[in-house]
Amino acid sequence: MPPAVRAALAGLALACSGTLTFAQAADDPLAGRTLFNNTPSSGGAGITMSCPQCHGSVEDRRARISGSNDPYADISFDTAMTRFAGAVQNQSAMAQFRTLTQQQARNIAAYLADTPETLPEHESQLTFSATAANTSSAPQTVTIRHAVATNESLTIVGVQAFGAEAGNFSVQPACNGLVLAPAGSCQFTVTYTPRNTNLSAPDLVITLRQGTSTTQFERVLFLSASIAGTPPPANAGDDSGGGALDARGLAALALAVALLARRRRRA
Ligand code: HEC
Repeated sequence: MPPAVRAALAGLALACSGTLTFAQAADDPLAGRTLFNNTPSSGGAGITMSCPQCHGSVEDRRARISGSNDPYADISFDTAMTRFAGAVQNQSAMAQFRTLTQQQARNIAAYLADTPETLPEHESQLTFSATAANTSSAPQTVTIRHAVATNESLTIVGVQAFGAEAGNFSVQPACNGLVLAPAGSCQFTVTYTPRNTNLSAPDLVITLRQGTSTTQFERVLFLSASIAGTPPPANAGDDSGGGALDARGLAALALAVALLARRRRRA
């Protein structure tokens, strides 16, 4: 944690002044929503204004924090807490919020971060291995979880793999078209069933839509798979060329480049 942020966090009135202890009651986005919309209800001395009076809505703040003007962005709790604490410290208009307790500030951050998410989290990589072509890897489970402190439903428009050898993966359609209530979730599995030995590294794209909005947004997981013990092509020779890349080396390099090229979108 950068020193400026540590200082900002310490600036929030803490019952145990100065020491940051993170073992506390679970952070609660529902309590955070109440505080966001009616901040004087926190009881903090000198707090006379609520967040929407200056910011309009929580979506406005999420769009700001996302860095990409996306109110539906996947925002981590840490990012939300860092940005909120930084603003309390640096924006004179927000100085009154220094009397929030640490838990109240954490609940507000939990609300700021309360957008639909996946488990494993957005932009993580799932690695698969099959023993041979036309055999299947162990399936891996992905969970889509809707936000908690919202009144809107979440429509799962579709889940599909796109990119390098997407056809080597089977994605269970269990969640496609489903509508989740707040705090609802859905699970599906992904299996690698290679038809060939080609580099298999597509993106698994989960397309979502919230409430009555027609704006679609995405969560993305990076799939990466190989066939265990695949022998190098017959003419690749042994790697005696003083560091020259053989076919497997080139495939590994191509994979590394493909992974690097993937867009980093997490806020
Ligand atoms: C009196 C006006 C005012 C109120 C009330 C207010 N803010 Fe702010 N806030 C600002 C200003 C000014 C900025 C800087 C410009 C901007 O981001 O729009 C800011 C910035 C922020 C940022 C962005 C920090 C960043 O890194 O970009 C967050 C997050 C934030 N406020 C959250 C809140 C929350 C949560 C509340 C309620 C507890 C709140 N604000 C109440 C005026 C206010």
